[in-house]
Amino acid sequence: MSKASPHFVCNNCGYESLKWSGCCNGCGEWNTFAETSPNNEHNFSKKRHIVNTSRFSEITTVEYLKTGIEEFDRVLGKGAVKGEVIVIGGAPGIGKSTLLLSISEGFLKNNQKVLYFSAEESLNQVFQRLRRVVNDFQMVKDGLEFVNSSNTDDAVSLIYSGKYNVVIVDSVQTISSQEVSGIAGNINQVRESAFRLTQAAKEKDIFVVLVSHVTKDGILAGPMVLSHIVDGVFMLETDRRGNFRILRALKNRYGSIDEVGVFQMSKNGMVPINDISQILIKNGEYKLPGTARGILIEGVRPMMVEIESLVVRSGYSNPKRGANGIRLTRIQMLVAVLSKSLKLDLSEQDIYVSIAGGFKTDDPALDLPICMSIISSIYNFVLPQDSVFIGEVSLTGEIRTTFKHDLRYGEAKNLGFKKIFDSTSLKYKTILDIVRSLNLDRK
Ligand code: TYD
Ligand code: MG
Repeated sequence: MSKASPHFVCNNCGYESLKWSGCCNGCGEWNTFAETSPNNEHNFSKKRHIVNTSRFSEITTVEYLKTGIEEFDRVLGKGAVKGEVIVIGGAPGIGKSTLLLSISEGFLKNNQKVLYFSAEESLNQVFQRLRRVVNDFQMVKDGLEFVNSSNTDDAVSLIYSGKYNVVIVDSVQTISSQEVSGIAGNINQVRESAFRLTQAAKEKDIFVVLVSHVTKDGILAGPMVLSHIVDGVFMLETDRRGNFRILRALKNRYGSIDEVGVFQMSKNGMVPINDISQILIKNGEYKLPGTARGILIEGVRPMMVEIESLVVRSGYSNPKRGANGIRLTRIQMLVAVLSKSLKLDLSEQDIYVSIAGGFKTDDPALDLPICMSIISSIYNFVLPQDSVFIGEVSLTGEIRTTFKHDLRYGEAKNLGFKKIFDSTSLKYKTILDIVRSLNLDRK
């Protein structure tokens, strides 16, 4: 590639291309390509200079910066590492700023010096929100330092000042540097800002959080565009009903990407939900046909979830299948298994399956609750109140044990469920066995 040639980058996923294109080859989004500035010619110096090296033995302890908010610390790893830079992405209004105020409080409580660098909100605006969101208002009011600026260079200087252990920049798309062309939010500005802030963070060993909005139209350069610059990319997501906010790692250099943190937006900010199972089942017993409970594993955490299905007579020549939070192909496969092993004709039924609580998963242990919720809807039968279903379903309709079965079983037991339908019981080897035990085959 000649150095002067233009170069295009997808704002959504960071895919790079020499040609502009309407649809991104990387992620399939439309109208997300933005032109980046060509590389500047570098004048490489031939002069030799001395570079200092280090040994790993110089490091005696690894220190983690903790917030004490378990749902956040666990998703990061054991907390934040000094010099780490992460992006927290999510749709506007999802609760990023609110969450970061709680995080600031957590760090302050653990004697860290925290700077909130806001390009989006003024001191007054943040003050209003702070009052509601934090627990110890006095402590945060006195301890949290605040800047309202949209200049990247200000943020970089403040990191270099070495006065803070934690710097939160809200948001990376609303700050810009005069040395770079384009307005804030465009790909050159966003990358340059992230790059400079990261350099400063590494040099001064400071934990930096960059807030990044995700917009549907791809106008702003999103979090994934920064994934190769920063140490971690975390997304704050929600389900359609807006019940929960789920913090999920897409990239995590110092921890696992399997962990999720669960929060709920309340009138007093983001409340961490440590025991999500309790909340999910507090929402009621089985009241209507079409619901079945299963145990999902996110990271190392078992969680009870509810699967909902709706089976209705189709008005189409090709019956519809819909899925929310579960892959459609899996639903199609399970429907085929049910048709064959229970001898059901589902060719004229529309079938929709959804996982409540906003989770997205491929966890095979949900096969059985998915099948049972479909069966419950077909027979218009409310499943027994204290029942829970754990297991993968094979193409022949057999119930199989999945990974971390004991953990799932334990969670169901702990929650007080007495009727646990799974493969470890001698009574249930196939879906048909369960259907028979519930007397559904006689309906
Ligand atoms: P915010 O943190 O500003 O979102 P983001 O920074 O991701 O754009 O959250 C804004 C939404 O959250 C807003 O619609 C109001 C709601 N909210 C609450 O429900 N409770 C609260 O305590 C706060 C501060 C906000
Ligand atoms: Mg915000």
